[in-house]
Amino acid sequence: MPKEFLIKIKCSVFLMMAIFFANVFAQEKTASIKSGEIIYAKNCSTCHGNRMKNPQWGINLELFPVEQKIRFIDSVTYGKNAMPPWEDVLSTDEIANIWSYFLSLR
Ligand code: HEC
Repeated sequence: MPKEFLIKIKCSVFLMMAIFFANVFAQEKTASIKSGEIIYAKNCSTCHGNRMKNPQWGINLELFPVEQKIRFIDSVTYGKNAMPPWEDVLSTDEIANIWSYFLSLR
């Protein structure tokens, strides 16, 4: 078999794998956003508003800085002032999914 032909086959296999994994990754991302949306609607929307808009009395999450993921996770997990902690109610994965949902709205 000529060498060029082998190289072409190797490149094609590599490309197919890259496309496959990109797809799996995209699906996982969509799943976590969807899960975050449901968890948010059930636990957070009463104070922070539907789809993080027009909050009843909690702070407006539309103004929360997108680069402060750790602060978001910490405040939600351990609570902040009038907001109760969520660590006994939600898993770390569920809180991370709310973060994905938060980012998807920006
Ligand atoms: C009982 C009402 C209430 C519920 C329910 C609630 N929050 Fe809050 N939340 C608040 C209030 C009030 C604040 C403002 C706290 C402060 O800074 O004094 C706040 C602040 C926040 C902040 C900003 C924290 C910071 O570091 O400034 C985030 C993020 C947040 N909430 C996310 C959530 C998420 C996610 C949920 C659902 C799991 C949720 N909240 C449920 C009342 C609530």
